[in-house]
Amino acid sequence: MTDQGFPADAIDTSIPHPARMYDFYLGGWDNYEVDRTAAQRVIDVLPDIIPGARANRDFLHRSVRFLAESGIRQIIDIGTGIPTSPNTHEVAQAVSPDVRVAYIDNDPIVATHAGARLTASGNTEFFLGDVRRPRTILDHPTIGKLIDFGQPVAVLLIAVLHFVTDEEDPAGIVATLRDALPAGSYLVMSHATAEFHGGSLPEVNKVYEKATATLNVRKRVEIEPLFDGFELLEPGLVQVPLWRPDGADPTPEEVSRIGFYGGVARKS
Ligand SMILES: C[S@@+](CC[C@H](N)C(=O)[O-])C[C@H]1O[C@@H](n2cnc3c(N)ncnc32)[C@H](O)[C@@H]1O
Repeated sequence: MTDQGFPADAIDTSIPHPARMYDFYLGGWDNYEVDRTAAQRVIDVLPDIIPGARANRDFLHRSVRFLAESGIRQIIDIGTGIPTSPNTHEVAQAVSPDVRVAYIDNDPIVATHAGARLTASGNTEFFLGDVRRPRTILDHPTIGKLIDFGQPVAVLLIAVLHFVTDEEDPAGIVATLRDALPAGSYLVMSHATAEFHGGSLPEVNKVYEKATATLNVRKRVEIEPLFDGFELLEPGLVQVPLWRPDGADPTPEEVSRIGFYGGVARKS
């Protein structure tokens, strides 16, 4: 049994998992041969996936720091990913140790690492859940214990909604989450796009079709409406390195390689 109380054989090492492939792009070790082979096929046709994944992770860090500095003390991080330091709670709690974080992912591999690397420090919990069933996330006892919907909450949907098909209704998912949030809450979202790589990624799609979730890249005009009911903060929905860079401004060449849009929005 894992420390999340489910059998370790729930971890399927025979098909690639997006969480483990993303871990490989980031240079992590929590992946299996099947994931490395699939991820390498993606890298071969889209080498920009590596700077893209890193830039996405950096966006997570900057946006979470912003949330904590803005006074947010509770975060629901859906599509957590395999722990990669610094994680959401580490960034937020560096600003204010009282930030509470609920982590949710549908991949058992994330659960196996959560005890040691996400929830050991207190004020944080992890549970297995599926973003395609947002009501079950909101109604989960862990959310009831950790999150006070009378106070502003930040929901993170960072690099997860591109694993949701149009038929599974990403806008409806976000709307369900939004309607549970009080005024002053935030939505942080990033999403993969092919707009900077020829408009479509057929070879990459083929790899993900054999994984546990398909890849559904979207255009900016399709991603921006997912923020409906929130006000996007400056600089709006942009390629992730352009969202409030905290070091030197990224060069146009660096930015041109990044196939992730990201934004931070507030509910008023
Ligand atoms: C690319 S990783 C992003 C990790 C982290 N949010 C980040 O941006 O660094 C995507 C994560 O979403 C998770 N995921 C994919 N489909 C999901 C679903 N339907 N419900 C919950 N999590 C999902 C994957 O297991 C993976 O851990």
